[in-house]
Amino acid sequence: MKIAFFDSGVGGLTVLSTAMKEIQNAEFIYFDDSKNVPYGTKSKERVKELVMDAVDLIASLDVDALVIACNTATSIAVNSIREKYTFPVIGMEPAVKPAVEKCGQKQVLVTATPLTLIEEKFQNLVSRIDQGNVVNLLALPELVVFAENFMFDDETVLPYLKEKLNPFNLDNFGTIVLGCTHFPFFREHFRKVIPEHVRIIDGNEGTVRHLKNILRDKITERSVRTEVTFYSGGVQQTDNLRYQKYLDLLSSI
Ligand code: DGL
Repeated sequence: MKIAFFDSGVGGLTVLSTAMKEIQNAEFIYFDDSKNVPYGTKSKERVKELVMDAVDLIASLDVDALVIACNTATSIAVNSIREKYTFPVIGMEPAVKPAVEKCGQKQVLVTATPLTLIEEKFQNLVSRIDQGNVVNLLALPELVVFAENFMFDDETVLPYLKEKLNPFNLDNFGTIVLGCTHFPFFREHFRKVIPEHVRIIDGNEGTVRHLKNILRDKITERSVRTEVTFYSGGVQQTDNLRYQKYLDLLSSI
């Protein structure tokens, strides 16, 4: 059983690391497009082209399932990918539904890339779910750049977050949704600048649960976990140190 995870860059590692805890007997492939990251500030047409090219390469690796571990790529291309391939494709979208269902009277702040937030798929999701008008949107593209450059120091991240969150009276908010897979790297940074009562949620656990359900019959005792194989821009990586650094960081937060 071979499961591929795809993201523009290192964000999908936050999903992969959740999957590694939950699924023992499968072979994982991590596939990024580091030459073209970030996707979230590019045009829809360009991102679609990049994602379809990457998925063609992933399909040639004979995978049993593909997780599009990227909200931006999902919103642009998941339907086209499903039309083209027969293996199961698990997409991701900002966890607006659970946030709104549990918000009580409080406001919800959905953070994501600019492209995810303006996409029709996301706009439709919000208008379906947000009957009480509680959803607020905030694009945080610099977090993707910080993560790609392994810039996790407070001096860099906190002033950016404070400035971006400044227009919102967070006392009135119940939940912040991390709607980009790069953002869970910054969970602790968010915690430092938001009131204690505000919950932070992402879609990673829900996605892995969904993946497990879909593959229930296929993940057999006979398939054995091997090391993760990493591909960057279509090329298999022999040195995994860069990825390991991020996975180590994730297991420490
Ligand atoms: N990690 C991606 C997401 O979940 C996008 C980051 C980017 O390439 O801009 O949206």
